Amino acid sequence: MNILVTGGTGYIGSHTVVELLAAGYNIVIADNLINSKSEVIDYIEEISGKKVKFYEMDICDEDKLEQIFIDNKIDGIVHFAGLKAVGESVTQAIRYYRNNLTATMNLCYMCEKYDVKNFIFSSSATVYGENKSPFIETMELGKTTNPYGETKVMSERILTDFANSVKGMKVTLLRYFNPLGAHPSGLIGEIPNGVPNNLLPYIAQVAVGIRDKLYIFGDDYETVDGTGVRDYIHVMDLAEGHVAALSNMNEGIDIYNLGTGIGVSVFQLIHTFEIVNDVKIPYEIVARRVGDIATCYANSDKAKKDLIWEAKRNLEDMCKSSWNFYKTRR
Ligand code: NAD
Ligand code: WQD
Repeated sequence: MNILVTGGTGYIGSHTVVELLAAGYNIVIADNLINSKSEVIDYIEEISGKKVKFYEMDICDEDKLEQIFIDNKIDGIVHFAGLKAVGESVTQAIRYYRNNLTATMNLCYMCEKYDVKNFIFSSSATVYGENKSPFIETMELGKTTNPYGETKVMSERILTDFANSVKGMKVTLLRYFNPLGAHPSGLIGEIPNGVPNNLLPYIAQVAVGIRDKLYIFGDDYETVDGTGVRDYIHVMDLAEGHVAALSNMNEGIDIYNLGTGIGVSVFQLIHTFEIVNDVKIPYEIVARRVGDIATCYANSDKAKKDLIWEAKRNLEDMCKSSWNFYKTRR
């Protein structure tokens, strides 16, 4: 089967490509490298011992995108490509809507035109908004607090209507919780661009000395120790979740949470990172970050039951593999 992976040189995409190759799929990657590097293709091929076909292109460009479908018989799409920085999406709202929505709609159009029936979309726990954790797929979507989150909600709606409008179309929405970690080879991982928004890349930059200390956004939440609680999931577990989803596609729309179901506080994450990596992370408590919620974790029973998938790696694995990657490749 030939799978088009958009955003395949990015963080989650690259790990998923490695797992898809191991599962026997042929992979075509489309990425404009706006947030990744072409050398990731070499690393993917080194890890997997297999070749991938790479198109460096913006998938919002319909003509260029169509060329992929002319050149290759595509059987399925795993769609990661998108802009994802929450803060940036507030100041560059239209860029985010244009990129993330045009990309999704162009792909839907190509599916119709070239009879591609399998489509997996990278959604996010952010669509649950301020619902109460554990988040479960049957919940009403919540109120998002930024344009990035809104592009995920809108894409989910577009893809749901798309799935219901095309006979035989199989669409799966995967809602990721907070991905951490890197491939055990240390060759691929997440390379933070500028000042990291997310907690772990920030911690890693403090650990290597790029930044003096971590700023913890609030210690007065109603949580175990006052700091924000999240469901951190190893990127390799996420990657395996995509392989499981691709082999369990059904007509219409399916939605799965990919999380561990375990809530971890900021203090707990710092503590684990310090212990397993033998480093010190100085920190300062500052005000809460606008738009943050106290607690976010998944109920992933549906994925466990239907996809026969569950997260296997623990927080220690995530902290160790992240550090293994960052300390050599920052
Ligand atoms: P990433 O930025 O590492 O990867 C996204 C890739 O898409 C990048 O390589 C980028 O160059 C590419 N891209 C962006 N716009 C493009 C376009 N128009 N044409 C071609 N390529 C384009 O991000 P990631 O962390 O791997 O996230 C992958 C997907 O998962 C995104 O859709 C993101 O919104 C979603 N997601 C991420 C997280 C997270 O915390 N990392 C959580 C939930 C959902
Ligand atoms: C985790 C915890 C912060 C940085 C974001 C997006 C979400 C999804 C995943 C894509 C929170 C605290 C953080 C720092 C801190 N992305 N923190 N100091 O906010 O759960 O989710 O990434 O879909 O849409 O919103 O992740 O890593 O930013 O924060 O104290 O420098 O760490 O307050 O409690 P978040 P995060």
